[in-house]
Amino acid sequence: MDRVPVQPKSYPTNLLQKDWTKRAIYERCGQAFVDKVHDMEVKDDDVWIVTLPKCGTTWMQELLWLVMNDFDFEAARNEHLEVRTPFLEFDFLIHKDLNRALAPVEALKSPRLIKSHMPLPLLPQQLWSKKPKLIYVYRNPKDYIVSRYYHVRSIGFGMSTTLEQFVLETLDEDADVPSEDFEHVAEFYELRNEPWIFYTSFERMKTNLRQVIEDICKFLNKTITEQQMEQMLKHLSFEEMKKNPKLNHHWEFEQIRAKHQTEHENHNFVRRGKAGGYKDELSSDIIAKMDERIQQNLDYYKLSLQKLLLLDENTPL
Ligand code: A3P
Repeated sequence: MDRVPVQPKSYPTNLLQKDWTKRAIYERCGQAFVDKVHDMEVKDDDVWIVTLPKCGTTWMQELLWLVMNDFDFEAARNEHLEVRTPFLEFDFLIHKDLNRALAPVEALKSPRLIKSHMPLPLLPQQLWSKKPKLIYVYRNPKDYIVSRYYHVRSIGFGMSTTLEQFVLETLDEDADVPSEDFEHVAEFYELRNEPWIFYTSFERMKTNLRQVIEDICKFLNKTITEQQMEQMLKHLSFEEMKKNPKLNHHWEFEQIRAKHQTEHENHNFVRRGKAGGYKDELSSDIIAKMDERIQQNLDYYKLSLQKLLLLDENTPL
């Protein structure tokens, strides 16, 4: 599905003061789906996880689900993550049927944990007034772009494209400054101090997962014992998640492959899990081109990547 320009019926003007008429928005699901999401019901006790693809969504989603479900590791091991906590856009992306598009989310028992990659202005309008808990996770763009390359190959797209070509095509697609991805993160970064928003990064989770779990527990008004914490740290470790069949999106991949029987590669969803892994996957030329585009966007927002990732200014990235 190609990205098409869309516009929400209304903008979150009560949250952010910006010239929304200048905000270009593209969405694969198209205008009718965008309208449906705009009008959907949000519940006060919903928890939303919003990210750009490949920023550590799955990792945070499993963390959140366990915190919200009394650390029920057995239930988590018995059901696919995507079934326990649906991806808002997924059903429509696969079936292109508006009538059923939100059914997986609507069928969830409260408190619901809902994942979306949509940007702030396309999220349901009720979200901006009800302000349920929302978690945003960002990641170094150089790592998430590499991660996206392996993801699209797992679903059978761009099979003749090399990693370098993929990066260059992504930079082309994001040629506007500010790029869509930077708008996505900058809008949530600006809201990071709102009491209903928890903003964090993949890199923070890599550096101190225990602290992130503690902070999320506080944010969701939950308590955790030391024994539960030890279990969480093990269950959420890269090694454990990599071998857990319920956390590698097998359920989603099966549906995608049933619809599009194309040649594909089998990359484990929990693949490499590194911060800075791009350094040994990309040439210095390509990295320099990425750095240039990233810098143009950062200059536009007067931000640094370290700020967006909540890291010390001197942290090498
Ligand atoms: P890589 O492809 O760089 O390995 P998302 O869930 O947003 O699609 O993000 C997927 C990325 O998060 C993948 O990155 C995946 O390996 C990484 N990831 C998932 N679980 C992880 C964990 N427990 N530790 C580190 N990285 C993890």
